[in-house]
Amino acid sequence: MTEIALQIADVGRSFKVGSRTVDALTGIDLSVKPGEFVTIVGASGCGKSTLLRLVTGLDTVDRGSIIHDGRRVDGPSLTRGIVFQEPRLFPWLTVTENIALGLENAPLGRDAKRRLVDEHIVLVGLAGFEKAYPRQLSGGMAQRVAIARGLVNRPDLLLLDEPFGALDALTRAHLQSELQRIWAHEGITMLLVTHDVEEAVFLGDRVVVMAPRPGRIAEIFDIALPRPRDRKDEDLLRLRNRVLAALEATAPLAHVPAPRSIAEPAPPTRPADRPLPAPAYSHS
Ligand SMILES: Nc1ncnc2c1ncn2[C@@H]1O[C@H](COP(=O)(O)OP(=O)(O)OP(=O)(O)O)[C@@H](O)[C@H]1O
Ligand SMILES: [Mg+2]
Repeated sequence: MTEIALQIADVGRSFKVGSRTVDALTGIDLSVKPGEFVTIVGASGCGKSTLLRLVTGLDTVDRGSIIHDGRRVDGPSLTRGIVFQEPRLFPWLTVTENIALGLENAPLGRDAKRRLVDEHIVLVGLAGFEKAYPRQLSGGMAQRVAIARGLVNRPDLLLLDEPFGALDALTRAHLQSELQRIWAHEGITMLLVTHDVEEAVFLGDRVVVMAPRPGRIAEIFDIALPRPRDRKDEDLLRLRNRVLAALEATAPLAHVPAPRSIAEPAPPTRPADRPLPAPAYSHS
């Protein structure tokens, strides 16, 4: 195995939207060590999903290169798994069948595959729903099926795009811990996108903060805290606040009012000579 699992070098990706060019990503440099857990946060639209699609090989870079395990990424591979932002289940397949798709091309016998699928159904807390179809699941349950499908094949590199976004707080905390346990046990390199800064700091060896327009890396934080981590640990909370501040600094325009010409008309002002109405509680 190479010293670097994933090497993203000067990557850029633009999209044509009508007559406009959107620079979804520009100058992205990131090296990830084997078995490292890197989390990514950034404002909506800053290119997080685009980056994961490029790394997994579902999309191709305009500029720069992506090397995984010594080979240039030029298409999807069994060694790279992805859990998308939305579950993307096949509606005509059951929970078991959807998860088994993750093993379709794995060199394993039927029984071994069946056992792995069953283990992962339990892992994501869906025992009893093996024969359910996606339309019979809640949004959070469907996402758990997608997480199981991403994990079941034990890829070298697992890319997760906001995998816990649709889950309730308890299930989310449980799956974060499970994911961490599997990561520590299996040595999978992980790249996880989240909107939750606390989750990013709790799970990551490093947290990448991205900035929008154009999508780029603003700052990278080392999270050198021992594991297992305590969510209430003061050092963790301090780091969370630093990452949050860096994230907020990437969107300084959010609070600036739009120029008057495209803003709503100014609200009517009170004529200077008209007194304010007496307050309702006045006794005068
Ligand atoms: N296939 C596409 N065609 C045109 N524009 C695209 C395409 N994919 C992404 N974009 C644009 O690239 C930018 C980045 O999109 P992306 O989905 O990567 O953002 P994101 O950081 O994942 O956002 P979110 O947090 O909302 O999921 C956006 O401006 C988006 O409109
Ligand atoms: Mg996204």
